[in-house]
Amino acid sequence: MPQNPFKFGSIVDDPFFVNRVKEISRVKSVLNSNNHLIVISPRRFGKSSLIYKVVGQMDRPVIALDLQLITSVEDFAAQLLKRIYRHYPFEKIRQFVKNFQIIPSISLNPVTNDVDISFHPESSSLPMLEDVLNLMEKLSTKRKKIIVVFDEFQEVTRISKELPRRLRSIMQQHNLINYIFLGSQESLIREIFEKKKSPFYHFGLLMPLEKIPEKDFRIYLQKGLKPVVKQDKKVANDIIDFTRCHPYYTQQLAYLVWEILLHQPEKEKPVDQAVSEMIQIHDIDYERLWNSFNKTDKKVMIGLSVSGISPLSDTFNRKYHIGPTSTVYSSIKRLMGTGYITKNKNSYEIDDPFFNSWIKERRER
Ligand SMILES: Nc1ncnc2c1ncn2[C@@H]1O[C@H](COP(=O)(O)OP(=O)(O)OP(=O)(O)O)[C@@H](O)[C@H]1O
Ligand SMILES: [Mg+2]
Repeated sequence: MPQNPFKFGSIVDDPFFVNRVKEISRVKSVLNSNNHLIVISPRRFGKSSLIYKVVGQMDRPVIALDLQLITSVEDFAAQLLKRIYRHYPFEKIRQFVKNFQIIPSISLNPVTNDVDISFHPESSSLPMLEDVLNLMEKLSTKRKKIIVVFDEFQEVTRISKELPRRLRSIMQQHNLINYIFLGSQESLIREIFEKKKSPFYHFGLLMPLEKIPEKDFRIYLQKGLKPVVKQDKKVANDIIDFTRCHPYYTQQLAYLVWEILLHQPEKEKPVDQAVSEMIQIHDIDYERLWNSFNKTDKKVMIGLSVSGISPLSDTFNRKYHIGPTSTVYSSIKRLMGTGYITKNKNSYEIDDPFFNSWIKERRER
């Protein structure tokens, strides 16, 4: 049986990786210089895929950490140190760790060769993190500079309020490391890197990641669909019309459509079929989500899904009776912060096209 050619959810590389030619070369340029990079986009636009694709091609040590799963400063230090151990001989690191201000407990798993590290919480855990960060600078060499990737970096303020300031004061002294920061809550990450008062103000090149260009996505979809459908172009267009080129949802819908066509090659409107199956599967989740919104948020979401007019326009407000512009605006801000709404060029849209359809369908029932 042929294999489904679409992939969604985890990090993608060839043959699932579409375009991003300009972005790839821009990331490479930064990594070949002495600068740092900040990549921002809404969730599931392909930040991790892009970065791992590029760093994978660069014969240099890569230390990557997702801050979403970090619970405290000492945990941050321990997890980072654990990843450093993966690149260097145990003995070599031990020599450095001996001189740390606070010595962690380290045990080596002889089977997996992985190390387990813990720092005991102290009144101030920052020296632990400082030592670990400086260790990377010591291990790095001019010819093979270490690349450090912090995913979901906006979480840094949750870990500790004073952390950004301290991190910045340590990192700015490093000359042999390229730091890459990835972030998905746009307003938060912009606050960290763009607010004049913020310690990370203009710390590196800010690269907003857009959706994938329609033409490239269409070619990719057609190629994958061809073995299962004659009208590959029409089906590819229908998929894109629905997902508006959102990288994750486009792959997901294409995957479902392909499955339908494999078993029912003559199926009419396979995209509509796939969409309605998806909405049905997620009905309970969507309903729960919907009930968690307040009244204003609900009106804004309905307006966006049904009318497509800008929520900040008078027409919109007359139609949905939301109230003063400031009320609409704070609702948009809230929904953007949680990722339900994204800004595309100059208009707002609901991030998840399936949820968008669910709202529309419920309204029109
Ligand atoms: N260049 C690409 N070509 C095709 N599909 C892509 C591309 N980049 C991402 N995708 C699709 O989007 C999905 C999510 O990608 P990825 O995990 O890299 O995004 P992310 O922005 O890091 O997400 P998160 O916000 O969850 O960290 C992938 O599984 C894939 O389906
Ligand atoms: Mg990611």
